Amino acid sequence: MSEILITKDEAVLTLSINRPAKMNALTRAMYADLAKGLNDAAGDFGIRCVVISSEGDHFTAGNDIKDFMENPPTDEDSDVGVFLGALLNFPKPLIAVVKGNAVGVGTTMLLHCDVVVASPTANFSMPFTSLGLVPEAGSSYLFPQLVGYQRAAKIFFTGEAFGADEAKEMGLVASIAADAHAEAMKIAQQIAAQPPQAIINTKALLKARQHDAVAAVMRAEFQLFSMALQSEEAMEAFMNFMAKKGSK
Ligand code: COA
Repeated sequence: MSEILITKDEAVLTLSINRPAKMNALTRAMYADLAKGLNDAAGDFGIRCVVISSEGDHFTAGNDIKDFMENPPTDEDSDVGVFLGALLNFPKPLIAVVKGNAVGVGTTMLLHCDVVVASPTANFSMPFTSLGLVPEAGSSYLFPQLVGYQRAAKIFFTGEAFGADEAKEMGLVASIAADAHAEAMKIAQQIAAQPPQAIINTKALLKARQHDAVAAVMRAEFQLFSMALQSEEAMEAFMNFMAKKGSK
């Protein structure tokens, strides 16, 4: 069974993260599949909107820590780099449905989505500094822009988590729904029924102001992130996570 499920409902494509036994932690292969799914959808006239969703009780626990330790990504051509590039440049509406934990890239990828629908169980966190890392996916630019510098700095520096209500108040999610998946599909079908070229042009206009700045920030983040991944601080944090799991 693939760890990224791809389904099509008329003009809406869903990419669903499917590794619930590991809280949907993302491996290199999963990033590659997500990037391919996005890039294929971008070029497919039959697809007008993409939904990123998940199986099980959680969105994703972020990057797979074991994979990170064994195969640290070193440049933008890595699978995670290609996925982030596909996300930044995706020309059609992108909707995310979040339930349970959305850790690390599970939260930062939402900053690139056009509409995020959260379940009341959603719990967002970006514990990069706690792991000896730095923010990624353009979040060091996009998150302070969204919530204000000090609030972003506090969240990045402490690694504190926040729930669906706070995420909605921040503007990180558009709505909270008990059946978040059904709500997201309803919005996706509504968008898919609109004139497609007008939608693509509107998204291009909405993103134009920040696109190049985000691309530059992503490059800088990547350099620091890949160095940090090999630092003692990160190694210690990763070993602690693995040791905790081993002792369970
Ligand atoms: N990478 C690899 N495996 C992960 C993972 C990750 N990022 N997050 C969770 N898992 C695995 C756990 O090892 C566990 O598998 P196991 O049962 O085979 O040991 C399973 O998913 C469930 O996770 P568990 O830690 O038991 O759940 P929890 O409810 O106690 O804790 C979290 C949830 C999210 C707090 C905890 O899993 C965690 O801190 N994960 C790491 C998150 C992270 O740092 N991501 C990277 C951000 S850059």
